[in-house]
Amino acid sequence: MKYKQGNYIILNKSAIAREIYSFEILCPEIAEIASAGQFVHIRAEGFTLRRPISICGIDKNKGTLRIVFEVRGEGTEKISQLNKGDTIDMLAPLGHGFTVNDEFKKVVLIGGGIGTPPMLPLAEIYREKSVVISGFRNAYAVILQDDFKNTGAETILCTDDGSAGIHGFVTQPFEELAKNSGIDAVYACGPMPMLKNISKICKDNNIFCEISLEERMACGIGACLGCACCTVRNDEEYFAHVCKDGPVFNAEEVIW
Ligand code: FES
Repeated sequence: MKYKQGNYIILNKSAIAREIYSFEILCPEIAEIASAGQFVHIRAEGFTLRRPISICGIDKNKGTLRIVFEVRGEGTEKISQLNKGDTIDMLAPLGHGFTVNDEFKKVVLIGGGIGTPPMLPLAEIYREKSVVISGFRNAYAVILQDDFKNTGAETILCTDDGSAGIHGFVTQPFEELAKNSGIDAVYACGPMPMLKNISKICKDNNIFCEISLEERMACGIGACLGCACCTVRNDEEYFAHVCKDGPVFNAEEVIW
């Protein structure tokens, strides 16, 4: 695995929803080798363990990465207090990203809540070939819709309470799409019940599906066994490391 560690400058910071922040980080050596679906491991000052955050944007020309994360505890709160011009201690790019295929003509990108950011680099690759379905708790939690539209992707927004877009879960519009149109691939990230349902719909409709799993991570590089996940490979059970073998897995490999 090829990765770098260093202190990198935050070029821009913005709050894009309540307790959700976007950082643009200057890190040319990481941006050069990063791919969609990988993650960065960030050290919060005063904490031993790093925090894994998915990559939301890669600009190889500018040499920048974008990360979007939610404050979920003291570590991410500390990271959120960094400002433009500060440096951030980052180990990246880590993990195994999404499989991208130029021959795919139509793909569906599905994000649930803070699982939505890793879908943006895929939308930037597939552009008009992609339909992005994203789901959030309510209108206040909605993020990245303009970014997705700017790629040329079609967007479908859902909220649990109906305060924006379709009232309901992402699986409802996806099930319709899966039955009615020729989808070559589905990529998804979000809560486990959502991923499980999407995997089932893909299996029933014979659609290639990759999912990105979230797991607590300590080392982030396959050394501590802290992120094990039960999968099946070559018909045999296999304890995969989410940090190294994933976070992206073929949906058919995951044992739910
Ligand atoms: Fe250490 Fe995955 S976090 S092995």
